[in-house]
Amino acid sequence: LELEQRVRAIVAEHRDSRGALLPVLHAVKEELGYVDPSVIPVLAGELNLSRADVYGVITFYEDFRQSPPGRTTVRICRAEACRAVGAGALADRVRSRLGVSFGETTPDGAVTLDQVFCLGNCATGPAVEVDGRLHGRVTPERLDALLASVPQ
Ligand code: FES
Repeated sequence: LELEQRVRAIVAEHRDSRGALLPVLHAVKEELGYVDPSVIPVLAGELNLSRADVYGVITFYEDFRQSPPGRTTVRICRAEACRAVGAGALADRVRSRLGVSFGETTPDGAVTLDQVFCLGNCATGPAVEVDGRLHGRVTPERLDALLASVPQ
């Protein structure tokens, strides 16, 4: 119920903006860290949309995870410039090291793995972001070191 009230308050703040759903979803994510599926009917009702519309938008944008993130979030850039300098190998490596796919969290809740398409660091790729901190020219060895430094 508390969650519902918070979501309603967020909607109230954004109701006047055009195409309120996206700004509302961003605000929900900002405040709660994720978009819990239970907020879908609340948003649909408040914004006069169908649940399918809301669900469609949430699943279309990878940004809106539907479960709480892990204690650390690792994001691997998979866009063109980084791919050209080895991001593909990093992507394979991080998935096998953590045993999860992109968008998933390790079972112990330590790490959420995400892919991202450009971190604005194209000149010094491959780029990896760990809890908002950007790392450039990440080699497989540096990736291992970054993963090893993640608190458990
Ligand atoms: Fe990776 Fe831009 S393509 S940071």
